[in-house]
Parts: sequence; structure tokens; C-alpha cells
Amino acid sequence: MAGPSSRHNVVIRERTAADDEAIRRLNDLAFDGTFESTLVAELRAAMLDAVELVAIEDGRVVGHILFSALTMLIDDEAIPTLALAPMSVHPEHRRAGIGSGLVQAGLVLASRREWQAVIVLGHPDFYPRFGFSAELASSLDAPFEGDAFMALELVDGALDGDDGLVVYPPAFRLAS
Ligand SMILES: CC(C)(COP(=O)(O)OP(=O)(O)OC[C@H]1O[C@@H](n2cnc3c(N)ncnc32)[C@H](O)[C@@H]1OP(=O)(O)O)[C@@H](O)C(=O)NCCC(=O)NCCS
Repeated sequence: MAGPSSRHNVVIRERTAADDEAIRRLNDLAFDGTFESTLVAELRAAMLDAVELVAIEDGRVVGHILFSALTMLIDDEAIPTLALAPMSVHPEHRRAGIGSGLVQAGLVLASRREWQAVIVLGHPDFYPRFGFSAELASSLDAPFEGDAFMALELVDGALDGDDGLVVYPPAFRLAS
């Protein structure tokens, strides 16, 4: 992402601290609770926030996405990998491509920053259109399994190997 990118009258750009209160309100609304806002705050505090974008329409934050660093070991070698979570779009702005725009812009920026892979736990009908694959994730030793747990290589073959281990940071409140 060379600069803010436009989609209709929506601009997708990197988050600044001035967006944070609006991001918190958006996530609390979209997820009907505070777990995701707390997750975002803790990931930032741990300096694991690697790619964080907002979608702006008429000056308002209507979408948000965070990609954060986590530990991915492939045959004991650390592979620079991001977790996509959370992502939200304001209920009144859904099904207009804003979520897709956030994912695509985030993946472009992640790639430019030389991250090699991304994993996500999310809707199995949504993420495969960006190249995420449950099959690719299925061989990883991780706290999740099944169709909703998906992986994407930004560098071909990044996740190739005999043993893959995913360790989420404590902010996700998971056993690994
Ligand atoms: C998921 C979300 C970010 C999508 O944002 P969006 O701007 O509507 O996304 P787009 O317009 O780019 O794409 C819409 C697609 O989202 C998918 N989608 C949205 N909600 C979904 C759900 N609950 N289950 C499955 N797919 C869903 C649909 O496949 C839809 O595709 P279609 O229109 O071709 O059927 C938005 O619905 C949202 O904020 N949901 C609440 C929070 C959430 O669930 N976040 C994601 C966690 S994985």
C-alpha cells in the first residue's frame, strides 16, 4: 500500500493513535462485547501489532483489521507469520466490499514488510477467496483445527516442512 487506497468513497489507510477510540467502539459494536478491543489493546501494548488498517467513510471509522505477530516454527525454524484478528466492519456498511478491501490491503502491506505467512480463525466461506486454505493449516500443531482455521503463504513454500507449530501470544488467552 503506497498510500491510502480508495474504494468508492471509502479510504483504507494505516491506523493512527487518533483512531483508537473509534476502533474500540467499532469492535465493541461488531462483536457485541469487549474481548476483541482488549485483544487489540494488549497486542499493541506487546508491540505485536504489525499491520493495522482502518476503513474511513465520511471521516468515520467504518472498518478495522489487525494482523499481529505470532510464533510459527516450521521444523524448528521461526517463520515470520501474522495472525489476522480481529476484523470488523460497521453493521450498516457490510456487504459492500469493505472487509475484503481491508484483507487485501493488509496482505499487500504484510508482504511488503516481508512477512511470509498469515493464519486466521474465521468464516470458512469468506477467507478462501483471498487464498487462505484450511488444508494448508491442517498440518500445523495449533490450538485450532477444522475448516475455520486457515493459512496463507505470502512466500511460496514458507510453511513447507514436516513439523509446524503455532504459538499464539498470551493476549489471545489460549492454551497452545
Ligand atoms: C466479517 C465482516 C468483517 C465482513 O465485512 P464486509 O465488509 O461485509 O465484507 P465484504 O463486503 O468484503 O464481504 C462480504 C462477505 O463476508 C462474508 N461473511 C460476512 N459475515 C459472515 C458470516 N457471519 N458467516 C460467513 N460469511 C460471512 C460473506 O461471505 C460475504 O460474502 P458474499 O457477500 O459474497 O456472500 C463483517 O461481516 C463483520 O464485521 N462481522 C462481525 C465481526 C466478525 O465476524 N469479524 C470477522 C471474524 S472472522
